[in-house]
Amino acid sequence: MKGKDKDYQEKPWGGRFKEGLDKQVEAFSASLPFDRRLAVEDLKGSMAHCRMLVTTGIIADHEGELILKGLLEIEEEILGGQFTYHISLEDIHMNIEKRLTDKIGPVGGKLHTARSRNDQVALDMHLFVKKEIREVEALIRGLQEVILEFAQRNFDVVIPGYTHLQRAQPVLISHHFMAYFWMLQRDRERFLDSYKRADLMPLGAGAMSGTGFPIDREEVARDLGFEHLYENSMDAVSDRDFVLEFLSCSSFLMMHLSRLSEELVLWSSQEFSFLDLSDSFTTGSSMMPQKKNPDVPELVRGKTGRVYGNLIALFTVFKGLPLTYNKDMQEDKEPLFDTVDTVKNILSIYQDLFRSMEVLKENIESALQNDFSTATELADYLAANGVPFREAHHIVGQLVRHCLDQGKLLKDLNSEELLTFHNLLGSSKALERLNPNIAVLSKKSRGGTSPEAVKKQLLLAEDALNKASVTTQIKNK
Ligand code: ARG
Repeated sequence: MKGKDKDYQEKPWGGRFKEGLDKQVEAFSASLPFDRRLAVEDLKGSMAHCRMLVTTGIIADHEGELILKGLLEIEEEILGGQFTYHISLEDIHMNIEKRLTDKIGPVGGKLHTARSRNDQVALDMHLFVKKEIREVEALIRGLQEVILEFAQRNFDVVIPGYTHLQRAQPVLISHHFMAYFWMLQRDRERFLDSYKRADLMPLGAGAMSGTGFPIDREEVARDLGFEHLYENSMDAVSDRDFVLEFLSCSSFLMMHLSRLSEELVLWSSQEFSFLDLSDSFTTGSSMMPQKKNPDVPELVRGKTGRVYGNLIALFTVFKGLPLTYNKDMQEDKEPLFDTVDTVKNILSIYQDLFRSMEVLKENIESALQNDFSTATELADYLAANGVPFREAHHIVGQLVRHCLDQGKLLKDLNSEELLTFHNLLGSSKALERLNPNIAVLSKKSRGGTSPEAVKKQLLLAEDALNKASVTTQIKNK
């Protein structure tokens, strides 16, 4: 890859140069291998810019027509896979522009009037991020729906709930998984909120100071469906906050999906055996014939690293940049594209995984019979009957200690034994509370795990799904 570019005068910026670009530098500085992905947005932006150049009289009608026709043909070539890309033309913007002048002659060069690649690439990125926010939001919503269905399907299965990964208190499995529904709801709202800041139109900033041509930025914004415009040309070409916000919203989302994944891995292990992931979402071992590995949740947990990494990478790129455009900013694309692909893939795969996941009720039931997770119930029973809670806690603590010493469970204690700890414990009502199915019934507080409260929660979840949707909000605009 040694040598210099001989056709450098062909480059849109070639005029000032006496020597061609070093070939290695050409490959190093080109963004074409990855920004090809912005072709559709680039064309859309150029068409809107061209229409505005015509309505403001900056270029003539017939010139505009030629340019638009050329751009439409290029779009067909690109979508049909017939477009030839040249790395020597650095990026997608110059590849399209060069193809345009090849097709329609020097008039193609008028498209770049009152525009710079700096505001052009910013516009492309805004269009791309807006589209991806809509798509990711819809996918999160899809996963929420599937989790809600899972909760409805397995509504009343009682499982041990955990704190510190130690058995804590019984809960409904629907309640447990609905916790993820609400995390995803916040993620969706976070993406929705970030949409506002992606919805800013940068074109017209030129290289950085604006332009002397009588452009109409409002027209371009209307044409492309932007709600707001940047009010400072230097900010317009320097800003990638909206990309960082996308990466940050994605990191929150991945943190939630990774916690969920950890539970799927744990719960499908032989030690827990609470869940069975379907064969189509697991893999075997090349050596150990008995293995069924939860590769998908493991990979989701693992891919969280790259999504966080992309966020930190881009934050780092931007931290020392002076205004306005700097070539460093070209580094915004790969982290964004990688995050978009990772997150969308996972959201879609997890919808199917959840649909096919089975709850192993018998294993859960037997696990529940063999622990102390209803100890708080007994303390609550005493407290509800006048014993100060701290005292009640201590009494039940001693009871548990007694059981551990005797190798017994609470339910194995007879009423004589219980009475030695407190006279209220002799009642059958107290013993009832040791049953995990009865224990959950009492948690009627708002947001608690009683079937009654969880039913209300499921209704609220349905409401939440219908509200706060980017798609509905955008359609209503
Ligand atoms: N390929 C560039 C990027 O992605 C486009 C903008 C180039 N602007 C410039 N002044 N060199 O950032």
